[in-house]
Amino acid sequence: MLTNIENSKRIAGDTRTGNRLLDAGKRDLAWLDRAHAEQLALCRELEEIADSLPASINRQKCIYAAKALGPLIKGIHHYEETVLFPQLQANPDATEALGPTLERLKFEHCEDECFAEELTDALLKLGSGDRVNMEAVGYMLRGFFEGIRRHIAFEREHLLQGVTDEELQTAGA
Ligand SMILES: [Fe+2]
Repeated sequence: MLTNIENSKRIAGDTRTGNRLLDAGKRDLAWLDRAHAEQLALCRELEEIADSLPASINRQKCIYAAKALGPLIKGIHHYEETVLFPQLQANPDATEALGPTLERLKFEHCEDECFAEELTDALLKLGSGDRVNMEAVGYMLRGFFEGIRRHIAFEREHLLQGVTDEELQTAGA
């Protein structure tokens, strides 16, 4: 499997986790794990809204999601691009594949942020009871959360590969 993390065997008596990238940036990878969980929770909310269309819309939920969407996505992207990615690139154990992987992730961030702005407008309209094309909004919602889920799966495969839940919890503590 293509990976940007080269694992090393755990050395007896060594406090290192065995994953060199994790050892170099434990807190940041634990942060990424939590950021993924927050985004997946938002995706679940958006999926519930999509499933509620057109007859069972909870307007309050639409307004709440509209307000949370932009700041959450932009905040996470900003941290990834200004703190996490440079740190991963500075790690001597990073493979050559890391550069193109991070470029792809940044490109997807850009696309998702544009998409999030459109979706915020649509959710605000939905929450205000304005007339909207339900089919188009449903399509937009599904396109967005499916894209975010794919992005997260890619980040987990390429940036968190080999890192166990236990290690992330220890690092994040
Ligand atoms: Fe990302």
